[in-house]
Amino acid sequence: MSLTTPAARRDLSFHLHPSTNLRAIQSEGPLVITRGEGVYVYDDEGKRYLEGMAGLWCASLGFSERRLADAAYRQMCELPFYHSFAGKVPAISTELAERLIGMAPAGMARVLFANSGSEANDTAIKLAWYINNALGRPQKKKIISRQRAYHGVTIASGSLTGLAFAHNDFDLPIARILHTDCPYHYRGAQQGESEEAFAARLAANLEELILREGPDTVAAFFAEPVMGAGGVIVPPATYFDRVQPILKKYDILFVVDEVICGFGRTGHMFGSQTFNLQPDIMTLAKALSAGYVPISANLVSGKLYEILLAQSDKLGIFGHGYTYSSHPVPAAVALETLKIYDEVDILAKVRRVGPRMRGAIRSFADHPLIGEARGIGLIGAVEIVRDKATKQSFDPKAGVAPFLVRRAQHHGAILRNMPGDIVAFCPPLIISEAEIDEMMGCFRKALDDTWAMVKEKGIA
Ligand SMILES: Cc1ncc(COP(=O)(O)O)c(C=O)c1O
Repeated sequence: MSLTTPAARRDLSFHLHPSTNLRAIQSEGPLVITRGEGVYVYDDEGKRYLEGMAGLWCASLGFSERRLADAAYRQMCELPFYHSFAGKVPAISTELAERLIGMAPAGMARVLFANSGSEANDTAIKLAWYINNALGRPQKKKIISRQRAYHGVTIASGSLTGLAFAHNDFDLPIARILHTDCPYHYRGAQQGESEEAFAARLAANLEELILREGPDTVAAFFAEPVMGAGGVIVPPATYFDRVQPILKKYDILFVVDEVICGFGRTGHMFGSQTFNLQPDIMTLAKALSAGYVPISANLVSGKLYEILLAQSDKLGIFGHGYTYSSHPVPAAVALETLKIYDEVDILAKVRRVGPRMRGAIRSFADHPLIGEARGIGLIGAVEIVRDKATKQSFDPKAGVAPFLVRRAQHHGAILRNMPGDIVAFCPPLIISEAEIDEMMGCFRKALDDTWAMVKEKGIA
């Protein structure tokens, strides 16, 4: 059957839609997106939406950067595929690796490419295990992640993810993956507890967990500098300062998941720089290629590289890698993306327009439905509550944030709701101040609609 009309495309979507209620999408049909221009995308009926989430936190350069298309085309013509197994490597991918090491925080020495954030985090777990075997510590294998973390959905990275929807009925998490507290002051702090005291308590809890499990059984700690899909959780200023010495004390690797924070989102090139982190391994994806083609990377410290070197020599091979690790086409697109970041001075851009978005988000803090408004750089969120004083949430079945997001879409902006009635903002980094105003205007209308809805239903 032909799928040439919009109605037919909706009725006959053969997708198994990720992160979606499959029953609901069957009756409602998906929003079919056909093209993009700047920070906007268009549906199959020609309606325009400001993409307030940069797709999935990734389309940093918007949806019509010709230079990336040209870079892909040129590379396709020159060398459309090659790999990095068995002593070969595509030239363009060595250029990208060199570029990444040059811009990464001090200490990073080697790059291993993959295709997605999930794969990069899976790889980081494998590296942590391999390294501890190499060091003769076969017991030191547990991995500590955090509640509300999002590190992906494969069996291992989905286990790191600290959100129930990624575990339920998938038989996750797997063994040896633990979750410690989320640095979520608004929800996690005790009555009257300052951010500083909260951070100290969480660090103490982490140390207790390590001691309870046995430091000689804990291999690595994973963290996003700012949690994205868990609700845009910006940690207290001193949180990582307290956590890092504990990791060092017990010789636990620090894996920093920069999949969202990397490449300017928080106002520095990496979230690691924003929060003064010293990672042993960094995972990168998304804005590495502005989301245009799949590519991810693990950056590995020089110290770890020495261990991998010796162990692969002992075993005769470093037995890891994907067909598309070092694929030349995404490498070319990523290199061009990094060139554009330089040329447009993307960090200055984020620092210039970020305050406009965060100021607008903060201006909603007084609204009766907004419990907290937060953000950093060009990422932010509001948390919708039923009662501001008690922070009581709405019954999730009432679908308040999903309603708001649907109304925002009606008014012309794509936003995203996350568990806990949190609505996120993560627009392309190229967004202008006028476009930020437009996005926040759509949000305001949607919030008004939501206020009217909860009043009418008598649930607020
Ligand atoms: C912080 C973080 N890590 C990892 C991932 C997983 O990336 P992917 O969906 O490419 O597997 C995501 C995806 O949103 C993410 O936000």
